[in-house]
Amino acid sequence: MVADTDAKKRRAALAALELVPKDSIIGVGTGSTVKFLIEALATRPGLVRAAVSSSDDSSTRLRAAGVAIADLNELSDLALYIDGADEANPARQLIKGGGGALTREKIIASAARRFVCIVDDGKIVATLGRFPLPVEVIPMARALVSRALTAHGGRPVWRQGFTTDNGNYILDVHGLVIDDPPALERELNQICGVVTVGLFAVRPADVLLIGTARGVDTR
Ligand code: 5RP
Repeated sequence: MVADTDAKKRRAALAALELVPKDSIIGVGTGSTVKFLIEALATRPGLVRAAVSSSDDSSTRLRAAGVAIADLNELSDLALYIDGADEANPARQLIKGGGGALTREKIIASAARRFVCIVDDGKIVATLGRFPLPVEVIPMARALVSRALTAHGGRPVWRQGFTTDNGNYILDVHGLVIDDPPALERELNQICGVVTVGLFAVRPADVLLIGTARGVDTR
């Protein structure tokens, strides 16, 4: 089962590699699907000149693969961002943050002209929300934000023992009804103490590459 899922993730990652212009600077996300992308980049020296990375973990892997790390502040344009997701709906709206890198991921997605999302077919849902929604919070506001999320109908669970690369906490919110993802993203963003909501709906993916048992579906 894990081997099947990994094969699907690898297929999606390899399909994304075909969309990378030679000698480009790209954004690279975080997670097990992205690991396959980084592994593949190691076999194609020169394809990518540098990468803006969404996490310390991906930066370490990229450097080991021979890819330099670029500072987003030094770039006036970023053509392409490739990242995974925890859930995707038919409108290419996503839940992300299972790996806790959602804030940097959202920054890079918003900077990129094209956001290509790579997933296995087990991540596709009709309605977002089966996967608990990760929310990054400032540590001193954890209880305050938890109460506000409960008032929104969710059941926030503190991801104890985990600190983000930005020094913050994650609340995984179960049981939310997400029938209007952009509206909920905007609403939860307004809670004081929230850094980032793991809904990627205001800026969804432009392309979804879905690894399946037979190949890759493109949406
Ligand atoms: C990390 C993320 C990942 O993209 C998401 O968790 C999917 O991970 P994986 O490819 O391991 O299933 O948002 O913050």
